[in-house]
Amino acid sequence: MSRLQVVSGKGGTGKTTVAAALALALATEGKRTLLVEVEGRQGIAQLFETEALPYEERKIAVAPGGGEVYALAIDAELALLEYLQMFYKLGSAGRALRKIGAIDFATTIAPGVRDVLLTGKACEAVRRKDKHGRFVYDYVVMDAPPTGRITRFLNVNDEVAGLARIGPIHNQAQAVMRVLKSPETAVHLVTLLEEMPVQETSDGIAELRAARLPVGRVVVNMVRPEVLDGDGLELAAAVPRSSIARALSSAGLGGARRGGHAERLVDPLLAQAEEYAERYALETEQRAVLAALDVPLHELPMLAEGMDLAGLYQLARELREQGVS
Ligand SMILES: Nc1ncnc2c1ncn2[C@@H]1O[C@H](COP(=O)(O)OP(=O)(O)O)[C@@H](O)[C@H]1O
Ligand SMILES: [Mg+2]
Repeated sequence: MSRLQVVSGKGGTGKTTVAAALALALATEGKRTLLVEVEGRQGIAQLFETEALPYEERKIAVAPGGGEVYALAIDAELALLEYLQMFYKLGSAGRALRKIGAIDFATTIAPGVRDVLLTGKACEAVRRKDKHGRFVYDYVVMDAPPTGRITRFLNVNDEVAGLARIGPIHNQAQAVMRVLKSPETAVHLVTLLEEMPVQETSDGIAELRAARLPVGRVVVNMVRPEVLDGDGLELAAAVPRSSIARALSSAGLGGARRGGHAERLVDPLLAQAEEYAERYALETEQRAVLAALDVPLHELPMLAEGMDLAGLYQLARELREQGVS
């Protein structure tokens, strides 16, 4: 299992939720994971029902079996200060730099540099060791930018090459790329069983592969329960109305009186079956597209009660049962 797990996906498909569930799943059996957020939305804090995360690693959850999940919201500006401090021992000069706007330059004018700082911080956490020479985190899980931007975000080398051909930024970019393009990293994509996100997933995988970035798994999120399978649906379409009414009656639905209300339940029931049949056909089509991608697939259920902490642990359990850790 790669130690840097990057989670991308079309916006709204559950990127943040899946990244958090994965961090929990990987933290079982006494492992320690770091869940990082790079887009400053505080989605992780919301999900774990804690206050906004500072730019500081904090324990936010305990996994079954005693593992720990830490979280960090990476702030590009603070990461740049930290970085300058490290290389140039800037101290208070960092504050001066901030005043004259050098930081604004690096974080807004040069997006490539900004991305190097964000991915660089995650890679630093991946490689960090304690004084006994053991890795501080067994896994780092990144809630990354969406599919449309992920390849460019991770492919910092190309972006920064034009900006800095030599010097510390260049070296940093090289070091980051060595981690990102190695088996130490896996980039997962979250999707729904719908045409648009599946198409985006397919395009995203092609782009990642073209950039030689390691594609991990596809997580199909918010999968609705199967009511009837293909055979069941055919059968449902073939049953005559009169038999359905009779069956409803004998099940005590719509009143026992002969020719009673059961008849009135038939149309809505058939309409529902038809709607479900349509959805089933669409989903079957999308499953086929996903299967053709030649990437391991996972499915997570739509939690009917909505998302909360208990739901998050349930999704983590699902991922573990599907063999992610
Ligand atoms: N498996 C699920 N079941 C039910 N609701 C979900 C599930 N996964 C995500 N959600 C909900 O969908 C919404 C989008 O999820 P989020 O993780 O914030 O997506 P993204 O980070 O991709 O924008 C949130 O309201 C979240 O609670
Ligand atoms: Mg999100």
